[in-house]
Amino acid sequence: MEVIVLPTAADVDVRAADLVAEQVVHRPDTVLGVATGSSPLGTYRELARRQTEGSLDLSKLLCFALDEYVGLPASDPAAYAEVLGREVAGPFGLPPSRVRVPDGSRRDLEQACRDYEEAIGAAGGIDLQLLGIGANGHIGFNEPTSSLSSRTRVKALSARTRADNARFFDDPADVPSHCVTQGLGTILEARQVLLVAQGKRKAAAVAAAVEGPVAAMCPASVLQLHRSVTVVMDEAAAGDL
Ligand code: GLP
Repeated sequence: MEVIVLPTAADVDVRAADLVAEQVVHRPDTVLGVATGSSPLGTYRELARRQTEGSLDLSKLLCFALDEYVGLPASDPAAYAEVLGREVAGPFGLPPSRVRVPDGSRRDLEQACRDYEEAIGAAGGIDLQLLGIGANGHIGFNEPTSSLSSRTRVKALSARTRADNARFFDDPADVPSHCVTQGLGTILEARQVLLVAQGKRKAAAVAAAVEGPVAAMCPASVLQLHRSVTVVMDEAAAGDL
């Protein structure tokens, strides 16, 4: 695991964008795993800026989301399909069909999970997976106690994650109780992983993920088992290392 600590959150955005850009230049049709939440937004904006100025071509990417809420229509502004349309597909110049998201509105969710795993496999697997980290150590929506070898499945959201994500909804009661998320085993199959973390609120989770034991209580600690992980964080997030 390579750990990079930079002074500010803005530095994290630029360094993470550099690492994604390096991969995209090497392989323009990279299969990119895209996270939601606020952590990767600056990276997406920096990548989009480079595309607009003409120094990077993101238009051949194929993207796969990590997760989606259950029960939100895809057009809900808080649905990850909508967020990634706004933050990734549009700014990267990709048709919406090149940003795939698990279907959390399907009646047969188990089939939706199997279909999603199959779609990732059919695309040849994920080349580079971008991740944020939850304050409780979750990645994707793999909450503490998730099986370290789990696959894409339906999960209940923890009370802490629902409270953390309430800011994306008009009413905290609107935060869904369940999600579909790639499993930890799915995430570990990505060829490279890039985790970004900013702010003091993430310091304990980052320390447990990077320096703690590999344990289901800190799902991100499973990344210690992956052979190509880079963690880019600001000094505040590195505060407990
Ligand atoms: C969210 C997402 C994760 C994200 C994490 C951290 O709920 N499902 O993919 O990495 O929680 O969110 P944020 O970056 O907003 O702190």
